Amino acid sequence: TCSAGDQQTVVIGLAADSGCGKSTFMRRLTSVFGGAAKPPRGGNPDSNTLISDTTTVICLDDYHSLDRTGRKQKGVTALDPRANDFDLMYEQVKALKSGIAVEKPIYNHVTGLLDPPELIKPPKILVIEGLHPMYDSRVRDLLDFSIYLDISNEVKFAWKIQRDMAERGHSLESIKASIEARKPDFDAYIDPQKQYADAVMEVLPTRLIPNDDEGKILRVRLIMKEGIENFSPVYLFDEGSTISWIPCGRKLSCSYPGIRLSCGPQTYFGHEVTVMEMDGQFDKLDELIYVESHLSNISTKYYGEITQQILMHSDFPGSNNGTGLFQTIIGLKIRHLYHQIIATKQLSNIQSAKT
Ligand code: ADP
Ligand code: G6P
Repeated sequence: TCSAGDQQTVVIGLAADSGCGKSTFMRRLTSVFGGAAKPPRGGNPDSNTLISDTTTVICLDDYHSLDRTGRKQKGVTALDPRANDFDLMYEQVKALKSGIAVEKPIYNHVTGLLDPPELIKPPKILVIEGLHPMYDSRVRDLLDFSIYLDISNEVKFAWKIQRDMAERGHSLESIKASIEARKPDFDAYIDPQKQYADAVMEVLPTRLIPNDDEGKILRVRLIMKEGIENFSPVYLFDEGSTISWIPCGRKLSCSYPGIRLSCGPQTYFGHEVTVMEMDGQFDKLDELIYVESHLSNISTKYYGEITQQILMHSDFPGSNNGTGLFQTIIGLKIRHLYHQIIATKQLSNIQSAKT
């Protein structure tokens, strides 16, 4: 028999500033689950939602309580909690988690207005992505797993220039000014959420080139909390040891400045964590298999799955560096967590049926 409680929605939170690679991350994540997520069919063309067979990704901008004009009038930014309806966010995430469909508002990024709501049905996996998934403690408590994308200012700037200057025709000065203007609210309301994340991906400038400020070669750190239910960190060679590894040599083609990996236990906001770091980038993507084969606890279903995922999406930004590698690893870890939660749920259903 199937009661409503058999349908369990696993809820994942992904926090990051806008323009920090959330959509790329979502494409890699849904690909690990075996299907590309697409906008809802026949709905509002400006919907921010993405749906695949297993996963629904909702954008938390849809919970803006003030539209663009309202924010201007009150002098608050979209990052300010006063521009967002956390009561509604909580009610709706809670409903979806317990198997109940909701009419979710739509924030229209083109017009800056709130559009009529859209129906969201409870998926197997619900991802809530945006500025504040871990801000409100009630919403935070609903998350089965949480991720924070921590992009350093230098890298944020390099990415913004690439997108807003090259594709949208903005000036260097206006990009600088918009990053500066966001900074106080970003520091007050967005950044503090990283202490609550189960995994944090930090993206920093390389240390392989002295004084590099180009932001092209990246040092990426994956910070993974210990003691999280259904999640255990990835490691290199020997669990709990501190390892530093330069894999360039006979088996890996590395041009300047090469690749450096490291891994080991650390603390982060008072929590025990394992940190895996990759500085530099791959010359030949298929050689990632050499690095993959030395990683442990990656939750792949078969040998070479990470490399296959990266090769499948080699056109996505960051496929040749730590961002692509760690995004894919987090995807595999979430798949594992999902199966664990479902298995536990089924077991307890069987046990309660017996009694
Ligand atoms: P968001 O969804 O958070 O707004 P996107 O995934 O659309 O961010 O990425 C915004 C831009 O940042 C991309 O167009 C790309 O130029 C750059 N970018 C994102 N991720 C990476 C990456 N891993 N490496 C290099 N550039 C990236
Ligand atoms: C952030 C929010 C968006 C908002 C944008 C600009 O990126 O995620 O929802 O549209 O800021 O805000 P503005 O008030 O200028 O429209």
